[in-house]
Amino acid sequence: MARVVIVSNRVPLPSKGAKAGGLTVALKDVFKQGALWLGWSGELAAETATSAKIHATGKLDFATIDLSEQDYRRFYVGFANSVLWPLLHFQPGLLEFDREDFEGYLSVNRAYAKALAELLRPDDLIWVHDYHLIPLAEALRALGVKNRIGFFLHVPFVPASVFSILPSAEWLLRMMLAYDVVGFQARQHLHDFEDCLRNFLNIARQSGEPIWFEGRPVIVDTFPIGIDSRAFARQAKKAAGSIAGHRLFESIAGRSFMIGVDRLDYSKGLPNRFEAFGYLLDRFPEHRMHVTYLQIAARSREDVTEYQRLKHELDRLSGEINGRYADFDWQPLRYMTRAVSRANLAGFHRQARVGLVTPLRDGMNLVAKEYVAAQDPEDPGVLVLSRLAGAAEDLTEAIIINPYDPEEITEAMHAALIMPLDERKDRHEKLFEKICRTTAASYCRDFLNALAGTATSTGMPTSQ
Ligand code: ADP
Ligand code: F6P
Repeated sequence: MARVVIVSNRVPLPSKGAKAGGLTVALKDVFKQGALWLGWSGELAAETATSAKIHATGKLDFATIDLSEQDYRRFYVGFANSVLWPLLHFQPGLLEFDREDFEGYLSVNRAYAKALAELLRPDDLIWVHDYHLIPLAEALRALGVKNRIGFFLHVPFVPASVFSILPSAEWLLRMMLAYDVVGFQARQHLHDFEDCLRNFLNIARQSGEPIWFEGRPVIVDTFPIGIDSRAFARQAKKAAGSIAGHRLFESIAGRSFMIGVDRLDYSKGLPNRFEAFGYLLDRFPEHRMHVTYLQIAARSREDVTEYQRLKHELDRLSGEINGRYADFDWQPLRYMTRAVSRANLAGFHRQARVGLVTPLRDGMNLVAKEYVAAQDPEDPGVLVLSRLAGAAEDLTEAIIINPYDPEEITEAMHAALIMPLDERKDRHEKLFEKICRTTAASYCRDFLNALAGTATSTGMPTSQ
């Protein structure tokens, strides 16, 4: 059987401890029985490595490269997270383009290609993840690599009118078409990608058909990511009775409990969510003293200026809300910027009557699925979900809101807090069924099947 080689910027190296982020969470368990995973070590060195360090376990093996400080700034902080991330999350006003960063992006992709080429076997299936590594297929082909290569974008895509803001927009699209398979989280992202193909390259895709680009077929499709819902449900049940679960329970003291769990990222819509909570206490006085909202916002990308600015804003907003509404024995908003273990998160979700997932844009948003999975089916909580998260295409039994309208979020919070048990059970049952249908394992299987069945430019057989 062909070996799977995963390539992503972030790798879940056991020695590094957990880092919040959907990509590694989804893939780690599925491939624990075997694969090679290449990515950044998380370390800075004098020079960016072009040969990987191997961390072999015999099952899921890791290969890592260090980045130079300059490349980290240009590639990761710069082009990836100050250009592509804001662009693909519909925030062109936050885009900070710099040609040196763009050069850094290219040279780090070439370094990945060199490091990977040394490790490859002829029948390896190469699966590249996310916006950091879009030019990797082209860089690998330039080194003579003939393997099948797939690309999955974990974040949204944008229509041509937005994509055209990017210097080198057409070039980046061509880089995407250097893959054999290109996957998106949601139909809307695929639709927007097709809009770009039509506008920039005059390519019209027939639904269900591959694209033909420079004489090669490129499969373009959606592969929605998921979680192992049943395992997460078991973890939640167990963790609710843990020491941390017990401490949380005691501290809530019988009040209604709402939770938000996100990376501290401007795409997650946190200021609007805080504002909405303030309105809730303003407009619905019956919730004063009776509700506690815990926001766990794990610090993320702290070297990117916009993330520093957001943290200041949230620090200020949380202080303002608590200053205005808290009483000597009640703190309405608990805001913490540390990451929490997955087991504890599961237990916390289970205790929450309301799960708040209100991103301004999101590829999928796994937290929405984790919240649903963690609920007690006999007394489930209610998910409040942004219509602009990929998850909303499927999870239609959540209370769906527009995250740009804080008052709509407020109304959803109120509706969720007072929702009768029958309705909660009914919605939860349908949601749980959906999250069991599309899992991390089914996502990987579907993508790899598409990749294994692809005829490549080298004329390799179509089945394996
Ligand atoms: P993204 O990939 O943009 O971070 P997702 O919601 O898809 O968004 O995935 C985030 C993953 O990281 C989830 O599995 C979630 O549980 C985890 N996570 C998010 N925030 C935290 C946090 N504050 N502490 C611990 N884990 C977190
Ligand atoms: O899921 C989107 C994503 O950008 C992943 O690629 C990434 O691993 C995760 O968010 C967390 O971000 P970072 O790796 O920059 O900490």
